[in-house]
Amino acid sequence: MNFHRKNIIVTGGLGFIGSNLAIRLVELGARVTIVDPRIQGCGGNLYNIAPVASEVGIVPHSIGETGNLLTILRSCDLIFNLAGEISHIHSMVLPERDLQINTLDQMRFLQACVDCAPGIRILYAGTRQVYGVPEYLPVDEQHPVNPVDFNGVHKYAATQYHLMLSRTGHLDAAVLRLTNVYGPRIALDVPCQGFLSTYLRKALTGQTLEIFGDGRQLRDPVYVDDVVEAMVRVAAADRLRSRSYNVGGPEPLSMADVAAATARAAGAPEPVFRDFPEERKGIDIGSYYTDSTLLREHFDWRARTRFDEGVALTLAYCREHLPHYLDPNDPNPTCKLTHKSARERAGAPAAV
Ligand SMILES: NC(=O)c1ccc[n+]([C@@H]2O[C@H](COP(=O)([O-])OP(=O)(O)OC[C@H]3O[C@@H](n4cnc5c(N)ncnc54)[C@H](O)[C@@H]3O)[C@@H](O)[C@H]2O)c1
Repeated sequence: MNFHRKNIIVTGGLGFIGSNLAIRLVELGARVTIVDPRIQGCGGNLYNIAPVASEVGIVPHSIGETGNLLTILRSCDLIFNLAGEISHIHSMVLPERDLQINTLDQMRFLQACVDCAPGIRILYAGTRQVYGVPEYLPVDEQHPVNPVDFNGVHKYAATQYHLMLSRTGHLDAAVLRLTNVYGPRIALDVPCQGFLSTYLRKALTGQTLEIFGDGRQLRDPVYVDDVVEAMVRVAAADRLRSRSYNVGGPEPLSMADVAAATARAAGAPEPVFRDFPEERKGIDIGSYYTDSTLLREHFDWRARTRFDEGVALTLAYCREHLPHYLDPNDPNPTCKLTHKSARERAGAPAAV
């Protein structure tokens, strides 16, 4: 598929990855409509799309509020579905909120897609979190699914909605299971969005980075431009084959190496080690890195940006635009999320 003059919806397009994708799609000549109400606790930021603000439409509603989407769906050629909550910790503290965002809203949205745009091509941003604690490394698409938190379970349900509706001919879907993504426009002022955002925030404000545990756990951070390239390639393909593809970084790195490289690039103090905080113990997955062979074989994609290059580009962007991403008086923002579960609304105490 050629994107020129195509009507493309990007859900979650005011967030970190979605905005980078929207900018690339505009550069490719697409007519982009973003669906994103900037949900509290997620990384939505209007400034993210500043370079293309006059060229994209914005529908400030949840994808679950489908009544507001019927018109744009009817004239749409392609959907990139990136709406979602990425925080594993938020999902454990407020599981019903995560269920709403990552599962119920997705189901409602997909039903509207089937009704208004039967057979439409849709690419969903899934997560490596669905695999849970790896049984072997690197993790390929055959690895058992065994999530360790609500976020992984809910994202897996949404993954299966896409694939089921595609296999049965209602949609033309594929899922990209992303590892930890970093790059320009990453949210710095939203706590609990993962270690890369925390490392970058601390490094940019000259603080000491903290490595949990012995720092030998492996990760394979992937630069956002490489992720956008994967999305564009898959969406442009002749056939989507109703399947999931892993998207990983160029190489496995220890958490200690990631922290040291980030601190070094920013001129921040050397990182220190500390015990895992209580809230993270149960949901840590140990070492993880991705086998992206399938994506390479089917779409000739590979992650091209080394971590030291990517982190330098990220820090340069963040420095130049810092006031739009972090309040200088609040370099360590705390989580301000509130949400009442059905149990609480019924008068029972919150439970995890
Ligand atoms: N960033 C990562 O490392 C990573 C890793 C794996 C998967 N993903 C997935 O990629 C997608 C994008 O992640 P991101 O890092 O850009 O996160 P982000 O928080 O920066 O952006 C997500 C955006 O989705 C929007 N959103 C949430 N629920 C919505 C709804 N119901 N309707 C419309 N918009 C909604 C939010 O307002 C936000 O702007 C998510 O689905 C996430 O699960 C991200």
